Amino acid sequence: MAEPLEIVTAIDAALSDGPLKGKRIVVTSGPTHEPIDPVRYIANRSSGAQGTAIARALATLGAEVIFVTGPADVPPPERVTVVKVETAQQMLEAVQGALPADAAVFAAAVADWRVASASNSKIKKTKGGLPVLEFAENPDILATVSQMEQGRPGLVVGFAAETDDVVENATAKRARKGCDWIVANDVSHETGIMGGAENDITLISDAGAEDWPRMSKSDVATRLAERITQALA
Ligand code: C5P
Repeated sequence: MAEPLEIVTAIDAALSDGPLKGKRIVVTSGPTHEPIDPVRYIANRSSGAQGTAIARALATLGAEVIFVTGPADVPPPERVTVVKVETAQQMLEAVQGALPADAAVFAAAVADWRVASASNSKIKKTKGGLPVLEFAENPDILATVSQMEQGRPGLVVGFAAETDDVVENATAKRARKGCDWIVANDVSHETGIMGGAENDITLISDAGAEDWPRMSKSDVATRLAERITQALA
């Protein structure tokens, strides 16, 4: 049986009157944590702020949002079904478990690699010895869902955080992964975007590259949610 909160959220979404009423949207957000041993892990600096704002904006427009989140700095929004995960593998399974959906937005900063053989017990510090970690590639959740032959969401949106040649790299990424849109941003240090409150977006789609003016992450979320609403109408 579904969790009580999930039932309440689903009822809430069903009763809402927004333009996304009746639409089910999966959103990933936050970093992933890839264990080294039971007390140590590899992580990244994603705060989860942009993904959280997108989930909130979609829920505000009436969507039923399944919010699959890694360990983020910001709390999850209200009125969404929250699925908490730690690793990329868990995130993939949670996303697959949340399908079918009308749309999926992949805003999570998924670790590209995991430690191939994470230890079940704490790795001890030994005199003169250093641990050697071997890595294995994580599944690419965006590419996996974009390339589903059956049951692919009608609209799949990915992100591209770039430091150079933003449009070229993001356009190539869109083709490589097979998603419909890429929300590209320049995360060079001097932009202050990583960890900041604002974002500077170029939306890459079939129609080409569309520059958005610099705006708050919450305004980016509202604008993206409006575009998703138009696309799903
Ligand atoms: O390849 P890169 O990490 O730059 O791609 C970023 C996009 O791909 C984001 O939308 C991110 O959520 C998604 N991604 C994913 N699974 C991965 C790596 C990235 O879903 N393993």
